[in-house]
Amino acid sequence: MKGGRLRPRGAAPIPDETDGFVPVEGFRLFYRTFGNPDAPATILGLHGGPGMSHDYLLPFAKLTRFGYRVVLFDQLGCGRSEVPPDRERFSLEHNVLEADAVRTALGLGRVHLIGSSYGGLLAIAYALRHPEGLRSLVTVGGLASVPFAQAEMNRRVDELPEPARRAIRELGARGALSHPDYVRATDLFYHEYVCRLAEWPPELNRSLEVGLERPVYRYMNGPNEFTITGTIRDIDLSPQLGRIRVPTLVLGGRYDEVTPAVAEQIERGIPGARRVTFERSAHLPFWEEPDRFLEVVGRFLREVDART
Ligand code: ALA
Repeated sequence: MKGGRLRPRGAAPIPDETDGFVPVEGFRLFYRTFGNPDAPATILGLHGGPGMSHDYLLPFAKLTRFGYRVVLFDQLGCGRSEVPPDRERFSLEHNVLEADAVRTALGLGRVHLIGSSYGGLLAIAYALRHPEGLRSLVTVGGLASVPFAQAEMNRRVDELPEPARRAIRELGARGALSHPDYVRATDLFYHEYVCRLAEWPPELNRSLEVGLERPVYRYMNGPNEFTITGTIRDIDLSPQLGRIRVPTLVLGGRYDEVTPAVAEQIERGIPGARRVTFERSAHLPFWEEPDRFLEVVGRFLREVDART
């Protein structure tokens, strides 16, 4: 199951990096681990999209500095994981099964689960199904209700300046999504509400590019971030949040496409949940405010581990 060591990329190599594949129902899921395999606890990261890849979550690997092992994987059909010939396994339920397969195959024990965006919805679904597998739950730009997140994104679109707002509304209604004005307006939305860095990191671009080439994003999410017409569009786990009993931290950006109101719904729904808003971030505070992100998450995880 274990693959070879990857050559460290970038300026600051992280020690003990390994990669490999975990089989799930005959399909191979790609994973990477960072840090000491004998660390007392592991952080398991869940990417969003649905349909992106683990690459944009690589800043999570820096949580090894708090003594944790960090494991990231590509969901079925995403990144370097296998793409099945049909689409029946592209679902939230199957993604839960995949996360549990990675956790058990790698012998991770009870993990700190961190999900970004759709990965946050997946983390909530996982907590409802497998509470025994968790030490804690962290959502970053996560959501409990897709219809509510969509309504909030519509509000974000309406806040865009003209002519971007009109381009999205009028060209979107006609299905002219490759019209240059629509593409330009989408780009503006992404730089306002997805990632506010002027220069997007290559790991993020890679996740998006590979995500858009593969079938999962379009099938499960839709044509773009603010148009969720795919199979997840009606999922609403908010009535079940009260059943979650693990320590929970809810994170989001002030300018997040998955707005602070969506984060607040999770915070209010999960007993004892805490929430932190990153004031200079949109959807990806681990890129936009990386030091503060590590500090906030590191402190939370250590507090949880000190208590249990
Ligand atoms: N499409 C959003 C994400 O998962 C919700 O990134």
